[in-house]
Amino acid sequence: MADASSAGMRDSMPSTSTAAGEALDQLGPEPPASRPRDRTAWQLRVAARACRTMGSPLYGHLLDHAADDCAAAGPTWRVLAGHAADGRGDALALRLMAAVHRLVLERRAPRLATFYPSVGGTGALDGAWAAFRAALVTDPSGVSELVARPCQTNEVGRAAALAIGFAEVAKATGLPLRLLEVGASAGLNLRCDHYRIGGGGVAMGDEDSPVDLSSHWRTPPPAPPARLDVADRRGCDLHPVDPTTNEGRLILTASVWADQAARHARLRGALEVARRVPAVVDRASLDAWVGAQLRELPAGVATVVYHSVVAEYLDGRTRDRFVEAVTAAGERADRSRPLAWVRLEPISQLRQHGVALTLWPGGDTATLARCGAHGDDTVWQGDDNGPRPG
Ligand SMILES: C[S@@+](CC[C@H](N)C(=O)[O-])C[C@H]1O[C@@H](n2cnc3c(N)ncnc32)[C@H](O)[C@@H]1O
Repeated sequence: MADASSAGMRDSMPSTSTAAGEALDQLGPEPPASRPRDRTAWQLRVAARACRTMGSPLYGHLLDHAADDCAAAGPTWRVLAGHAADGRGDALALRLMAAVHRLVLERRAPRLATFYPSVGGTGALDGAWAAFRAALVTDPSGVSELVARPCQTNEVGRAAALAIGFAEVAKATGLPLRLLEVGASAGLNLRCDHYRIGGGGVAMGDEDSPVDLSSHWRTPPPAPPARLDVADRRGCDLHPVDPTTNEGRLILTASVWADQAARHARLRGALEVARRVPAVVDRASLDAWVGAQLRELPAGVATVVYHSVVAEYLDGRTRDRFVEAVTAAGERADRSRPLAWVRLEPISQLRQHGVALTLWPGGDTATLARCGAHGDDTVWQGDDNGPRPG
């Protein structure tokens, strides 16, 4: 394993959006901010390609039409114009889709509902755009208000890839885990020890779990533990979602693409687990929060700071402060109070994601796995002898 600093810890938190990367070649450069309508249309087209690549033909179709409509200053632009300058483009596209999905879930767009499989619709493409456009025209200010809300996906499938990191820490230290998730959203993956996880003839976790990730590993890690022993769990997010409330469940469901039945099933299972397994998610920015959580490293547990698909939402200062707080705490770690940093983040312009682990004392870094954006197709890439604290 390489040393954390020489392996470029900051590089392991890239700021590039993979979804955007896929489409760049075909679509040409992003128009400048001085042409906000063209730029927004371009961003919707990028998101359309990403959704199609990631198994959502319905959202691919709707976003391509929305891009044309935006370019022609139609209802899509009327809804998005006020938001065009407020952040990442692919997040804006996903916020539009989540806003309209919420209308459907709340029975405020009955015509569009007949196309949305999440509420029993057909998933047919023919006619779907006309119904989507009609929803924008019927309630433009309602949609615009919902678009203003942050992107609040909590992808349960990522637990399968993260668990590979947690399993390595458990094996290397022999200690129960204290899980600290930054950018945790609703904290669903803080309960990953209550999920069934596996693939390639290997499985770990709760056999009776309503969350079935038992085919997420294409190439499993060597000898994972039968169960993860989690001593404590806590998270933070700028906008935490409470998965035990109706509002929280609605936010999370609206964020999952309407034609992705398997993701909806995973989310329903995770919401069921969340009702019986508590996990606090504090409202805080991760840089300040992690410093406070790591002030003491308790003896007898392995403290694991982790995140998935959060790095690209951070500005450089926040990212640097976070990395500095984790590294400084790592220098105080010893064998009775080890510290691990597990991250599942984009690693290329394609939709490839990687799972990396840094373990203190020692601070060695290893790449453990590659996976898809939703934790699917996880392929073990680690050293079969596993990392050891130095
Ligand atoms: C794409 S979501 C990923 C959520 C979750 N980690 C997952 O994999 O499903 C990114 C999350 O990062 C959170 N976030 C962004 N900046 C943050 C910050 N400075 N501090 C804490 N959370 C942050 C957002 O609110 C959002 O919930």
